Amino acid sequence: MDCGMKNRISQIIKPETGRTVMLAVDHGYFLGPTTGLEEPRKIIAELLPYADSLMLTRGMLRTSVDPNASVPIVLRASGANSIIGDDLSNEAITVSVKDAVRLNVSAVALSIYVGGKYEHQTLKNLASLISECEEYGIPVLAVTAVGKEMARDAKYLSLACRIAAELGAHMVKTYYCDDFEKVVKSCPVPVVIAGGKKIPEKEALELAYNAVRDGAAGVDMGRNIFQSKDPVGMIKAVRSIVHENVSAEKAYKTLKL
Ligand code: 5RP
Repeated sequence: MDCGMKNRISQIIKPETGRTVMLAVDHGYFLGPTTGLEEPRKIIAELLPYADSLMLTRGMLRTSVDPNASVPIVLRASGANSIIGDDLSNEAITVSVKDAVRLNVSAVALSIYVGGKYEHQTLKNLASLISECEEYGIPVLAVTAVGKEMARDAKYLSLACRIAAELGAHMVKTYYCDDFEKVVKSCPVPVVIAGGKKIPEKEALELAYNAVRDGAAGVDMGRNIFQSKDPVGMIKAVRSIVHENVSAEKAYKTLKL
C-alpha cells in the first residue's frame, strides 16, 4: 500500500488505538430530510469536535460543513435512488474521483447489495471506483447494505464483507450480529459497524462495546447519535467505549437524558 493511501487511512482509523468513531450523516442521499438531520449544519457543527471522520454526501459537504474544519471526510460516492423508488439496490457511482480529490476527502464510500436485485451492478461499481481511487491513493469504504429480505447474520455478513475485501475495498462497514468475530476474522481489512435504526441509548452503547470487543475497528454511527436526546453526550460516550474500552454501563451513566 502506498504512502498516501496509508496516510489517509490513518486520518480515519487512529494509529494510537487502531480504532475510529466515524459520524455518519449521509442518510439524506436516499431518505431526504432524516429526523435529526433537518438542519444538518447545526447538528454537524455540534458533533464535529468528537468525530474522527465525517461520512456524508458532497452536497452536504459543500453546504453544511465549515471548510476550515479539520475533520477527515469520508465522501459517499454511491446512490441515485430513493426510499420511494423501485429498488434501493439500483445504485450508481455519484461522484467522480476528480471531484473527491478537489473536495480533499480522506476516503470515499460506496454501498454494495450482495444478494440484491442489482448485486452485480453494485459490485461492478465498487470494483471500478476502487480501480480509479487506487490511482490517487484514496481508500474506499464498502458499505454492505442489507435488503429487507436478507438475514443480518454472520453467514450473510461474512459473505458480503469478504466479497468487498476481495474486490479491493480498504475498509468495510457492516452490521453487528451474533458470532461477529467470524465476520471480522474472515475479512482481511478493517471492519466498522453501522448503528442502524434508533434504539435506546444503553443498547446502542452495548452494541458499540460488543462490536469493538469482537474485533471491529470502530463504528460509523449515525441515527443512534444524532437522534439521541443527548447527541453530544452520546458521541462522547461512544468515543470512550471505542478508544478507551470503557464499559457500556459506565459510558451510559455520563448521558444527560
Ligand atoms: C446507509 C449508510 C448510513 O450512513 C449508515 O448506515 C447510517 O448509520 P446508522 O445506521 O448508524 O444511522 O451507510 O447505507
